[in-house]
Amino acid sequence: MDVPEVLLDADRIARRVRELGAEISADYSETGLVVIGVLKGSFIFLADLVREITAPVIVDFVSMSSYGSSTCSSGIVRVTKDPDVDVEGKHVLIVEDIVDTGWTLKMSCLAENLQAGGAASVRVCTLLDKPCRRKVDVHLDYVGFEAPNEFVVGYGLDFDGLYRNLPYIGVLNCEYQED
Ligand code: IMP
Repeated sequence: MDVPEVLLDADRIARRVRELGAEISADYSETGLVVIGVLKGSFIFLADLVREITAPVIVDFVSMSSYGSSTCSSGIVRVTKDPDVDVEGKHVLIVEDIVDTGWTLKMSCLAENLQAGGAASVRVCTLLDKPCRRKVDVHLDYVGFEAPNEFVVGYGLDFDGLYRNLPYIGVLNCEYQED
């Protein structure tokens, strides 16, 4: 197994997560929020982020996948788990690990379905944003870091199921396929 080259170390991630948590806490201090993590990649970011949020917070998850075992998007999005929480009248924050082409967020219609379910508002927070790879327009309200045009792993992000447990975000030396 290759050892990924460090892109963002654990301290840098923790500092940025604290900043995001403070910003989100201020924005939702009056209303509270429902945080909906997109599994599996967001699980570590979400766990750290919610502990930095001081506003009342309910945590839920959805599961969808657009990637098989390669580094290239298949363009197919499967929703495999819907949220359990009734979002009617609630302020929802979708939490993603990384927004790459944007297909997963767009094609899942997650934000639209939450709005249709009566959510008072729907925003998106992503740890990493790879704008250079965007294929469809998606609006991001909170962004941790801009990522380079490389395949990154660690801190929840995987390659073929591996590397999620790395405490840092690293660049994987692999064939990164262009769409
Ligand atoms: P999108 O649909 O192309 O925006 O891709 C979103 C999903 O693809 C993310 O939630 C990740 O699971 C996966 N993904 C995209 N780029 C990377 C990467 O560099 N490393 C690991 N996973 C990635």
